Amino acid sequence: MTKEGLSSGDPNSYSNPDEVAVSHLDVSLTIDFERKILIGEVNLTTEKKKDDAHLLVLDTRELKIKDISDKDTGTKLDYTIDKDDPVFGSKLTVKLPSRLGKNVIVKIEYETSPSASALQWLSPQQTAGGKHPYLFSQCQAIHCRSVIPCQDSPAVKVTYSAQIRAPEDLVVLMSAVRDGEPSLVGKGLKLHKFRQNVPIPSYLFAIAVGALASHRLSPRCQVWSEKEFVDQAAYEFAETEKMLSIAEDICGEYVWGVYDLLVLPPSFPFGGMENPCLTFVTPTVLAGDRSLADVVAHEISHSWTGNLVTNKNFEHFWLNEGFTMFVERKILARLIHPDQRKFSAFCGLKDLRDAINTRGQNDPMTCLVPDLRSVSPDDSFSVVPYEKGHTFLYYLEELAGGPEKFDPFLRAYLEKFKYKSIGTDDFKEFLYEYFAQNADLKKVDWDTWLKKPGMPPVIPDYKTSLEETCTDLCKKWVKWSETESCPFSATDLKNLSSLQVKEFLAQLLEEKPLSLEKLKTMEKIYKLNSVKNSEIRFRWLRLCIRGKWKEQIQHALDFVTEQGRMKFVRPIYRELYAWDEAREAAISSYKAHASSMMYVSAYTVGKDLHLN
Ligand code: BES
Ligand code: ZN
Repeated sequence: MTKEGLSSGDPNSYSNPDEVAVSHLDVSLTIDFERKILIGEVNLTTEKKKDDAHLLVLDTRELKIKDISDKDTGTKLDYTIDKDDPVFGSKLTVKLPSRLGKNVIVKIEYETSPSASALQWLSPQQTAGGKHPYLFSQCQAIHCRSVIPCQDSPAVKVTYSAQIRAPEDLVVLMSAVRDGEPSLVGKGLKLHKFRQNVPIPSYLFAIAVGALASHRLSPRCQVWSEKEFVDQAAYEFAETEKMLSIAEDICGEYVWGVYDLLVLPPSFPFGGMENPCLTFVTPTVLAGDRSLADVVAHEISHSWTGNLVTNKNFEHFWLNEGFTMFVERKILARLIHPDQRKFSAFCGLKDLRDAINTRGQNDPMTCLVPDLRSVSPDDSFSVVPYEKGHTFLYYLEELAGGPEKFDPFLRAYLEKFKYKSIGTDDFKEFLYEYFAQNADLKKVDWDTWLKKPGMPPVIPDYKTSLEETCTDLCKKWVKWSETESCPFSATDLKNLSSLQVKEFLAQLLEEKPLSLEKLKTMEKIYKLNSVKNSEIRFRWLRLCIRGKWKEQIQHALDFVTEQGRMKFVRPIYRELYAWDEAREAAISSYKAHASSMMYVSAYTVGKDLHLN
């Protein structure tokens, strides 16, 4: 089978922005919780890029298209919808009128499907408050097409305006700035208006509707969640403004106006999502000690790397995520301690080894710039673009002469490419233009870094005293034989931060599985079963599964059904599946919960469990 991309510029989008590009979206939608659909219209402002272009090509997925017309004249427009692909959806081709000298606005009346892959609909029982339904979206990478017919490629950037009608007792939030107060419009509905005046790629379109409350953190930052979690969230994210100011210091002016956070229900599939003006975060970062707020530093960084300078398609995803890890760690260094940068990178490198071992050294998806023709970005997703990308930038920074030389380059890169969508070659070209005098940078083996699978060709030295303590404790546990007297006590962990406890467990996971006896001793001394911190719990449960501790299977299943963060859920399910005695329980737990999981989680875990 020869591989084919959907279009010349983006293997995962049917759209044709080189011919006709959309520059603005105006959406008017009603949220129908009964039918679990959005109904309304979108008006797309088009720009012809070639004189003879007359077809607008859009991505759609499970949308019911009712009518398409020329907004200004009301004339109906001819269109065709191609057959549906289960991953990429269907191509919608609209024939544009040949009016001269004017950008045609195409009006599409439509509704979404109850199974729209970007949307999760929660019943009141599935929320913390228990009284009101809840809706949230997750469009990255290519799910916006299940909400709006659009050019669902990050090569295209649009401004947007939105008019949303929702039940009057609910709050509507979007990846945009509110445009006036909500107003009652009858039938128990309120109208909420929004505007996003900075051009964004479609994957940053976002909406959340629910019984939400907020707490102000600073003049431009607020945290939102169901009221049950607001105080906890306000404590956890109290340093948001500080992080944002540090990020501005590193990257330049914050152009998005407000920076709000929304803590989602537990089924949210990611740690965080950088929706502009409104970062989405998983409640699993509410650790109670601010130790997992690095997710916020990460999403803040995307305000530049990703949201201003955007990958032109998801083959170049490392430009979003690798750069974001790079900026995130610079923020942590200034916020916490200079060593935090290396310590976090040290931990990340271990996640990279783990991911590459799981996928296989030669898996093409472990390339920094993978070939995504016929590949769903949901399937290619891993820490590779994050950590291989970070490693590459760290390596380039060292070659360039350290942060003193590279920080100004980073600023210049962001300045040069802001509001644009770029590929890896654009970055490379600018790097050589900027560092034209630097001989060391000529040594870079681009082909291996970008195109070869497996671990990076050069691995920097990330050692610090922060990680040493974890390594010592790990070694001590590995070396200890149960016939000797027990040298451990609860104070071992008291001297470690929660990030270090997590790292200690992560290091044990790289060793041969611990014996059941050792694990039981560890539990007796450290009481890890009662730790709430999700990152610690995740690694502890994996150790227990590997040590074949049967009584822990139920704890592991509780963990993967209480929350839906794929980073935790997928490895636990995979490891339960690999163990004969846990496999059946894992499969039946998945089957019982799949319908309340978000589409991406159900899809990927289903694959992990060899069910589809
Ligand atoms: N943009 C990503 C999440 C994402 C990536 C969603 C691809 C859909 C497709 C977000 O910025 C992210 O990287 N989140 C991480 C945070 C972590 C690296 C601090 C996560 O979810 O774990
Ligand atoms: Zn990210």
